Amino acid sequence: MTAEKITLGQGLQKRGVSRRSFLKFCGAMTAALALPARYTSRIAEAVETKPRPPLLWLEYQDCAGNTESLLRASQPTVAQLVLDVLSVDYHETIMAPAGHQAEKSLRDTMEKYKGQYIVVVEGSIPTKDDGVYCTIGGRTALDLVKDIGGSAAAVIAAGTCAAYGGLPAAAPDPTGAVGVSKVLSTVPILNLPGCPMNVINLTATVVHYLTFGELPAVDQFGRPLFAYGERIHDHCERRAHYDAGQYAEAWGDEGHRKGWCLYKMGCKGPETYHNCPVVRWNEGTNWPIGAGHGCAGCAEPGFWDSMTPFYRRLPNTPGFGVETSADKVGLGVVAGVTGAFTMHGLVSAMRATGEPLAEHETINKEENTDG
Ligand code: SF4
Ligand code: F3S
Repeated sequence: MTAEKITLGQGLQKRGVSRRSFLKFCGAMTAALALPARYTSRIAEAVETKPRPPLLWLEYQDCAGNTESLLRASQPTVAQLVLDVLSVDYHETIMAPAGHQAEKSLRDTMEKYKGQYIVVVEGSIPTKDDGVYCTIGGRTALDLVKDIGGSAAAVIAAGTCAAYGGLPAAAPDPTGAVGVSKVLSTVPILNLPGCPMNVINLTATVVHYLTFGELPAVDQFGRPLFAYGERIHDHCERRAHYDAGQYAEAWGDEGHRKGWCLYKMGCKGPETYHNCPVVRWNEGTNWPIGAGHGCAGCAEPGFWDSMTPFYRRLPNTPGFGVETSADKVGLGVVAGVTGAFTMHGLVSAMRATGEPLAEHETINKEENTDG
């Protein structure tokens, strides 16, 4: 399963992918990378002529949701993605070899392409008690990620667990779970958070790497700006309802059925940066808010703790003018807004410092935190 040194173009041609489909793929990648359309030909030239980067996929404390996301890729299909675009040489969940054969595949790629291969990490890394809570082949994830990631050209942390610790790091964090960048600092690391990450963003990152020879520009949390540079709230199809003070007040009420804003139902879109409203999911079919549920803020550092209770409205929204006005319109009484924000701020601060919650808060958290 070790990568042949063939180009993506050769790979796609070998698998009978037409020139038209290939250019369509390059156009989709140009759009995903938020580049002007004229870059399509440059991307096409790069992916046609440059060898596919060997890719090793490591899986630690996770639910395999990012692998599921990978397997559901359709543009290109998973076969094209795995065999032709990404050249995945090692992936414990989907690779044919097992046991020693799998380990050999891993070692072969590491030796042959030292400093050239890309590592994708899925899942968090437990650090407590020397990392004993996740071991593969007798070695801890902590040891493995330093060894395998340390000789890579770049490491991509796929999903919120690999990026920032995610659900395994939620209080009380029994395993001391952290993201990759907390334990590895010698190679470039890019975070693609999300629960799960959107595979379009992974493919676009690899295409960017092929085309420009480097990882894309990132924000302060190590996330590529092309995918995390804009706020959900600013591209949401329900935004006009937010601005007009039209909110769903209960699941299934008239406002919910009419597609009104989900802010009062706990939507975290005003504090979440991700390109979900633009690229969407399942071949662009839909996305969480389009399907009638608020954004849970899954791409933000500190998810899960910072975004729960999921169905509690945000205490305030960033920005001024129309956002603040709309909030006041929604509540009706300015004093009520201040009181609600103050109470939520106090509860959030207590939660962040580990202070015990009052009984009604505990009940509300249990009711509302359903995953
Ligand atoms: Fe959309 Fe949520 Fe913002 Fe409402 S609060 S406009 S549902 S992102
Ligand atoms: Fe996550 Fe919100 Fe997108 S929950 S998948 S960032 S809409």
